[in-house]
Amino acid sequence: MAKKFTVTPWKVEGEVDYGRLIREFGTEPITDSLLARIRKHTGELHHFLRRKIFFSHREMGWLLDQYERGDKFYLYTGRGPSGNTHLGHLVPWLFTKWLQDKFDSELWFQMTDDEKFLFNDSLSLEESNSMAYENALDVIALGFKQGKTFIFADTDYSKTLYKHALKVSKRLTVSTAKAAFGFTDSNTVGQYFYTSMQSVPAFLPSALKGKNIPCLIPHAIDQDPHFRITRDIVPKLGYYKPAAIHSVFLPSLEGPKGKMSSSIGESAVYTTDTPELVEKKIRKYAFSGGRDTVVEHRKKGGNPEIDVSYQWLRFFEESDEKLKAVHGDYKSGRLLTGELKQILIDKLTVFLKRHQEAREKARKVLDRFVIMD
Ligand code: TYM
Repeated sequence: MAKKFTVTPWKVEGEVDYGRLIREFGTEPITDSLLARIRKHTGELHHFLRRKIFFSHREMGWLLDQYERGDKFYLYTGRGPSGNTHLGHLVPWLFTKWLQDKFDSELWFQMTDDEKFLFNDSLSLEESNSMAYENALDVIALGFKQGKTFIFADTDYSKTLYKHALKVSKRLTVSTAKAAFGFTDSNTVGQYFYTSMQSVPAFLPSALKGKNIPCLIPHAIDQDPHFRITRDIVPKLGYYKPAAIHSVFLPSLEGPKGKMSSSIGESAVYTTDTPELVEKKIRKYAFSGGRDTVVEHRKKGGNPEIDVSYQWLRFFEESDEKLKAVHGDYKSGRLLTGELKQILIDKLTVFLKRHQEAREKARKVLDRFVIMD
């Protein structure tokens, strides 16, 4: 019998079967021919594409048709600012940065302080709003282009966003929201309305400029239910349906099949963690695919497919050669779990040191990226 799992924008539970999600959500797998088509424009493929970390999409073919006709697209992605940024959040953002560089696209980045207030009982609106600007530092630290990147918190850009959200909400029935998100009669009216706000940036530049501009939304697959609704409604408002490209989840430290989430503090690594804390978390919590004893490990080898340190290296080690060597050495038993963890710790230490320096520098330029009204 097929195993049960749940993927919604607010909850990921169980062992996610990504092939089944493609069928159930009605998205398309990223095929080798689509990759070849992307490479024609980018010259190379990001390791997230080479490794099918981005594995699914909606209408990338259409987007590239438009692009090849000279109709450039903009990028749209976002964050629900409920706390510090963790490494999982960086997955779509790192890829978005690569897309911005390769296609010279604008990026519209939504900080949904309203969403996190509505869906989190213990968070005040003031807290989620100020978190939005802390999280924006992580976005800027990744190197997005000034002048082409617009970051906005919903409640500080509401004069512009609200009237468009109204138009979406007028077309959205309660039964559609129930079907898309699994809402019941106990959900609040604010929660029912919220998805209208997440739709807006998928057509806002078109509305502001008075002409249709194609939009590509990179995100992890959990956000797809929102954009199914967006894609149903926005053509009725006269805009293009947005295209989307979906990643798998960076797993939590404690298991290879779920999603890193802030709700389990120790299972996530945050961009603000010190090197000592990162080392401690990985040594203590990273789920191991190794054997019980060194002797047995040397003889039978470890299992990289379930080893979280190896799985994280798939996201953070860009060199295919190095990754392949780690895979081979771990499988054959040459590499022990402790040694594999050390490789990951070294990699993340370098990455986070650079990121934290850039994050502090970003404070000085924050206002050049933020838009409000
Ligand atoms: P949020 O804050 O839950 O997540 C931000 C982005 O990170 C992705 N994500 C992950 N990706 C890989 N591995 C993980 N473990 C992981 N956890 C989260 C999410 O899919 C998301 O792309 N409602 C949204 C905010 C939002 C948004 C958007 C996101 C508004 N507009 C447009 C994407 C695109 C939210 O709460 O994201």
